[in-house]
Amino acid sequence: MTTVTPVRSSEAPLQLDAFIDGRAARSGKTFSVINPATGDVYAEVADCTAEIAAEAVDAAVAAFASWKKTTAPQRSQLLKAWHAEIICNQESLARALSSEMGKPYTEALGEIAYAAAYVELYAEEATRIYGETFPSQHAHKRLFANRQPVGPVYAVTPWNFPAAMVTRKIAPALAAGCTAIVKPAEQSPVTALLLAGLWQKVGGPAGTLQVLTASDPAAVSQVMFDSAKIRKLTFTGSTDVGRMLYEQSARTIKRVSLELGGHAPFIVFADADIEKAVNEVMLCKFRNAGQTCVCTNRIYVQRPILEAFNAALSKRVQALRMGDPADPDTQIGPLVDADALAKVKRHVADAVAKGAKVLVGGDSPQGLYFSPTVLADVAPGMEILTEETFGPVAPVLAFDDEDEVIRLANDTPYGLAAYVYTRDLSRAFRVSESLEYGIVGVNDGAPSTAQAPFGGTKDSGIGREGGKWGLEEYLEVRYVSIALDQ
Ligand code: SIN
Repeated sequence: MTTVTPVRSSEAPLQLDAFIDGRAARSGKTFSVINPATGDVYAEVADCTAEIAAEAVDAAVAAFASWKKTTAPQRSQLLKAWHAEIICNQESLARALSSEMGKPYTEALGEIAYAAAYVELYAEEATRIYGETFPSQHAHKRLFANRQPVGPVYAVTPWNFPAAMVTRKIAPALAAGCTAIVKPAEQSPVTALLLAGLWQKVGGPAGTLQVLTASDPAAVSQVMFDSAKIRKLTFTGSTDVGRMLYEQSARTIKRVSLELGGHAPFIVFADADIEKAVNEVMLCKFRNAGQTCVCTNRIYVQRPILEAFNAALSKRVQALRMGDPADPDTQIGPLVDADALAKVKRHVADAVAKGAKVLVGGDSPQGLYFSPTVLADVAPGMEILTEETFGPVAPVLAFDDEDEVIRLANDTPYGLAAYVYTRDLSRAFRVSESLEYGIVGVNDGAPSTAQAPFGGTKDSGIGREGGKWGLEEYLEVRYVSIALDQ
């Protein structure tokens, strides 16, 4: 592993306003966005008040009145132009994203491409919002169902994907004819503001996309939950917060999409090609330093290959380059903040105290960095097996047979993503059909893609993002019955 030497910035922090009704908005107060690699203040961002949130609601409602009447090709053209601008600015967006939350630059560039893919997809899907006709039992009646935008949307986005989680929510909302207020995470609001600036640059009308930055999400969110005019909440984040927002949405009966926590099992059967299985585990576990909802948190390896698997995985993890996120060769950056680091340390300490063995890593060499880690002899009762770690720690457990591992894999309140590695086709079907998860990767540690449905079951959430499913979340079905003169 390389030494960690992030370069401190000599530049003054960026000063950024919120983006409300097509204009810069500020409250007189700001909050700091800290570069987790250096501890420097990367940006000072407008700290919006409840009054600014109320202005955003009014603007979203006013803009909705005209945006919903635009034609699908008009919305599609604007989304295409937005996509082109995102691609054109991908390097600067990736640099900002990397500076605000520590994602290695090369991976940040990948996230911008991923984010842009949602915009491109929904530029196309906008033109495929079809209606249906269906037969009546009365000869003089004609029955139709068509799809209408749900209305102004409140989108609360997470810090771990500051670009892709914005576009995964906003592109389908705009395509459907909805307007949207984005409340980006306090740790990483800069990329959302830059994306909104590009939307404005290509002619996105004022009030269609607004960015409400705030250090106290509760105060501005309250305005959204109090307003019956905000018709939908879409949220990505923890299960605890999601549950609270779900309850708060009930009062005004908002449509709700929740993409919440996960605790993904990765099952490796003894017939697997070990090197290939390790490749997929690496992709799955160490992306974004383990800070994704779909990262595996439990690697179940069938006993006959356990030792060989641990050796192969340890070799690969040992070779990961931890370092300055700005360096294009860095593979592992810092964790996002002190709370994230404390949780990872707690999980590793608890596992070790209860008998787990550290094969690689296990320490925090400096600042917010935690070394990529492999833990062997992980066993029930350890915190890491029930709580989402959100860090670069790969816990490995042994299992003996298929029924046992399916039971273990499903023994969690979460149901977002699960993975299985085998060369046996029948087993691949059997196991993937038995896993109670919204996403299953078979011999694939990185199944996420713009055109596929992303979302979970049980405590992992409600609804799907991505593909045609993601668009449905922003549409209401309207039934029209026409009685003809007889
Ligand atoms: C997430 O962690 O919320 C998103 C990960 C992905 O899109 O693959």
